[in-house]
Amino acid sequence: MNADVEFHLRKMAEQDLAQVLAWRNHEDVRRYMFGSGLIAMEQHQRWFAGATLDSTRALLILERDGVPSGFVNIKFDAQSRVGSWGFYVSPDAPRGTGKTMGQLALAYAFNYLGLHKLCGEVIAFNERSLRYHERLGFTEEGRLRDQYFDGTVYHHVISFGLLAGEWTTTSTDEK
Ligand SMILES: CC(C)(COP(=O)(O)OP(=O)(O)OC[C@H]1O[C@@H](n2cnc3c(N)ncnc32)[C@H](O)[C@@H]1OP(=O)(O)O)[C@@H](O)C(=O)NCCC(=O)NCCS
Repeated sequence: MNADVEFHLRKMAEQDLAQVLAWRNHEDVRRYMFGSGLIAMEQHQRWFAGATLDSTRALLILERDGVPSGFVNIKFDAQSRVGSWGFYVSPDAPRGTGKTMGQLALAYAFNYLGLHKLCGEVIAFNERSLRYHERLGFTEEGRLRDQYFDGTVYHHVISFGLLAGEWTTTSTDEK
């Protein structure tokens, strides 16, 4: 990844709605989502209106040299500070975009939101995301057999977790 490229994570705003929906509905993204159907703009707007009022949620946009390039959704329990995340990068984002987004999002989750733990759930055929969680320092914590039904076939779901204390020692590029 080019060291001169600038990355920045910011809160999602209303003007990001169309871009985020286009990514979410792209075949290369939605096939890996829980619920892989197309989402309508009206439904997307309703989701955004509700989510932005929720103080236990963070909707974040990754900017690459000022261009929106990815989305992260973190939700957490206010008392336990245990959260979970979902994310996707723009389908035409250059390699390395996801990794930088993940590192920035983990810093946001642990440093800014003060989370104790962040969890991720990955459909077993999503090899990129399985590997991605491992590279970011997550530990595989469970294999939920036939947990996700795509309308035709059942798939295993792999649960990952990363504790705040682990992140401080595992969040380097060398991992
Ligand atoms: C998962 C995702 C965010 C990764 O972003 P990316 O920009 O493709 O990933 P990067 O190029 O930054 O690579 C980061 C790590 O992901 C993994 N990875 C990326 N491409 C991969 C591939 N083709 N095969 C296997 N692992 C891959 C690797 O571990 C890689 O780290 P490494 O190169 O140091 O080994 C992105 O592919 C994406 O948005 N996928 C669709 C949506 C999705 O699956 N979301 C997660 C649902 S749980």
